[in-house]
Amino acid sequence: MKTKVGVIGCGNMNQAIVLGLYDKLPDSFEFITYTPSKVKAQSLAEGVNGNCASTPEDLSGCDVYLLGCKPQQFGEVAKDFSGTTSEDALVVSILAGTTVETIKQGLGVSSVIRVMPNTPALVGKGVSALYCEKGLDPLNKDLAHLILSSVGSVFELEREELMDLITPVSGSGPALVFEWTNILASFLKSGGLDEKQSLDMAIDTIIGSATLMKQNATNLSELESLRDQVTSKGGVTAVLLDTIAEEGQKELLQKALSSAKARSIELSKI
Ligand SMILES: NC(=O)c1ccc[n+]([C@@H]2O[C@H](COP(=O)([O-])OP(=O)(O)OC[C@H]3O[C@@H](n4cnc5c(N)ncnc54)[C@H](OP(=O)(O)O)[C@@H]3O)[C@@H](O)[C@H]2O)c1
Repeated sequence: MKTKVGVIGCGNMNQAIVLGLYDKLPDSFEFITYTPSKVKAQSLAEGVNGNCASTPEDLSGCDVYLLGCKPQQFGEVAKDFSGTTSEDALVVSILAGTTVETIKQGLGVSSVIRVMPNTPALVGKGVSALYCEKGLDPLNKDLAHLILSSVGSVFELEREELMDLITPVSGSGPALVFEWTNILASFLKSGGLDEKQSLDMAIDTIIGSATLMKQNATNLSELESLRDQVTSKGGVTAVLLDTIAEEGQKELLQKALSSAKARSIELSKI
């Protein structure tokens, strides 16, 4: 028998998860999608051979709900879906900042798994942090792992407040990498390389470095060794690293990460 998945909200992130899951396990799940405007729900349902719901009530009886609206839309969703989501259904929420307790109360369910995915999930290379309360049925935890591993790697967190710690890294990290790539590519372009070549070279440098790290760095000192292998005394890389160190790059990044973490905590209190 197929596991019935109710998809509440069909933005980029929920779309990536649902499409990834369907791609990996086309015969194990059936999908019913809902959004107020129906447009995204309809196209997602078509992409996974599922059904688009007309009303929230059409989603009653699902085994698992993928909750993917904006956090500020949750109040409305709770009003619309309370009573539709049966008490024993599992809710997997990707809402940034919205706590397990808020979701349990809002939807009247007892099993909630909170997840922070990231946009590389769109290409099957996501990182998802997952938190569930102790005592949650292990089968539900396995189900959440199965769903999320269809779009990348999954890291389980021991405590819910760690969500605020990881959000600036795995959640916002892609934006940081895109920003760095832009700086590298723009430097090449401003020096006379054409834009396509500049961007490809910057992106391939990041992919190559990431692959090298993945294969060779199992702790921070191995990561430092990789950096040192590129850095000869008095050479080009040494000047590059010394210049950004003199400008306080490390302190700036640490400050930015702490501010982003503080914002995540703030949002969880709204
Ligand atoms: N983007 C990221 O990098 C990222 C990373 C981690 C987590 N997240 C989390 O993922 C969630 C979704 O983000 P997103 O960027 O995908 O947002 P989005 O594109 O705005 O999508 C939100 C979806 O929720 C639907 N929705 C709104 N009100 C609803 C209601 N009352 N009932 C059911 N569905 C409703 C919207 O429907 P319509 O289509 O009709 O407007 C839309 O499909 C957020 O909570 C965010 O914190 C995002």
